[in-house]
Parts: sequence; structure tokens; C-alpha cells
Amino acid sequence: MRRKLIAGNWKMNGLRDPGVALARKLADRARAAGPLGYDLLICPPAPLLIPVGEALRGSAIGLGGQDCHNERAGAHTGDISAEMLEDAGCGYVLVGHSERRADHGESDATVRAKAEAARAAGLIPIVCVGESAEERTAGRALAVIERQLSHSLPRAGEPSGLVIAYEPVWAIGTGRTATPGDVAEAHAHIRALLADLLGEAAAGALRILYGGSVKPGNAAELLAVAGVDGALVGGASLDAEHFWAIGAACP
Ligand code: PGA
Repeated sequence: MRRKLIAGNWKMNGLRDPGVALARKLADRARAAGPLGYDLLICPPAPLLIPVGEALRGSAIGLGGQDCHNERAGAHTGDISAEMLEDAGCGYVLVGHSERRADHGESDATVRAKAEAARAAGLIPIVCVGESAEERTAGRALAVIERQLSHSLPRAGEPSGLVIAYEPVWAIGTGRTATPGDVAEAHAHIRALLADLLGEAAAGALRILYGGSVKPGNAAELLAVAGVDGALVGGASLDAEHFWAIGAACP
């Protein structure tokens, strides 16, 4: 049984005020709710990792980074290593988000190196894949996902130490979501590929999240799709009530 994971990606949003208050609100709700049947995770911008981590302390909500460098340390001005994220209290890190792939030209090989660095530092990488609108229209969605997966997954390690996020680029921040049928097809394809790449048992244990305009209004439908093990939530994670409602929609 794969436990669902609801991950909030704040992207480049949030100052200490109101970011810390948002985290505190969610932590209070989580503490009051008692044990949850799913995992909650917040990935704030790097300057907020420490204060948000403090606000989450004692709650069941985890902390994650939005990106890491593939090297352990060195002359890489402006970058953050996986070890630094771990030191700041993170348990997870997003790698290969489509905004990183597009804005920073990150290749599949770079994403793989980052995922491997994350694992070496004891973090769980959430490896993001997904096709653009043009690729989907051209009928290449599954082929693109296949290329990304076969070149950006870390090469070794336990399935419990890895999460995949399927995020069709055209659904991110647009209010358009993939249909449950599209999501089911993509997730089944990803799991079959994972079985080829990592073996049947590992593929069955790995969590595959859906991301792209997940909101309280569509969360229940998307989270009920076979093979969907959670959600990667951007915009709606910036509102405590909305993010909480998405978690509560886990079947
Ligand atoms: P969105 O972003 O929920 O705002 O579409 C999702 C993501 O990019 O992780």
C-alpha cells in the first residue's frame, strides 16, 4: 500500500511574512488533526527553509527544497547543495521541475546527477517529468516522459528513497488539468517504464504524484485515479485552507 504524499511547491513566492504564518497555520491544523493517513510536505524558497522548518517542528508536515546542485560543495555561487538542505531540516528535494528545465536549461543528465546527489545526502528526490503542449499535440507525450525517465532517474537505491512527479507542462499554473483518463494513462505508462528500469517490485513501491493546477475542487477526482499516489501542488499550496483541503481529499 503506497501512502499518499501531498507536496506544496511555493516556488519563488513568500517572504517571512506571510510565509512563516502560513506554515504555522498548517502545522497547527496538523497537530490538532492527530495522525494523518497521508504525508504532507512543504517546499518553500531557500531563505524560508529555517523559519518554516521551525514553524513545522512537532507537526507531521515535512520540509523539502525546490532544487539542489549535483556537487557536494565548491565554487558554485548562488547554488545550494543537497547536504545544505539536509542540514536545514529537509527530508525531500524537487529535482527537474519543468521550470528548472526551461529557465536553467537543465538536461536529463543534470537532473539525474542532482537526484543522485540528493540521495547521497540522505534526501528523497522528487524527480519531475512531463510533456509540453506541443509534445502532447504531436502525440509524443508518452515518448517524452519515457526519455526523461530513462535518463533522469538516479541509478541506484531503494524505491522508498525516490518519488516521481508527473506534471504536464501545459497544466502547470494554467488552471487546465489533465483529464483523469490522461492522468491514468500517463501514470500507468510511467509505472510500466519503472518496472523495466528498476524491476517490478520497486515500480510497485514507488510513489508517482500528479501535478498541474491541482485545487480543492479537482483534488478528490485526481487523487482517486488509479496509480496516482499524491499531488505536487503549486498555486494552491500558498493558501492554508486550500492546501489542507487537498490533503483531506485523499481517498
Ligand atoms: P500549479 O503548479 O499547481 O500552480 O499548477 C504545480 C507545480 O508546478 O508544481
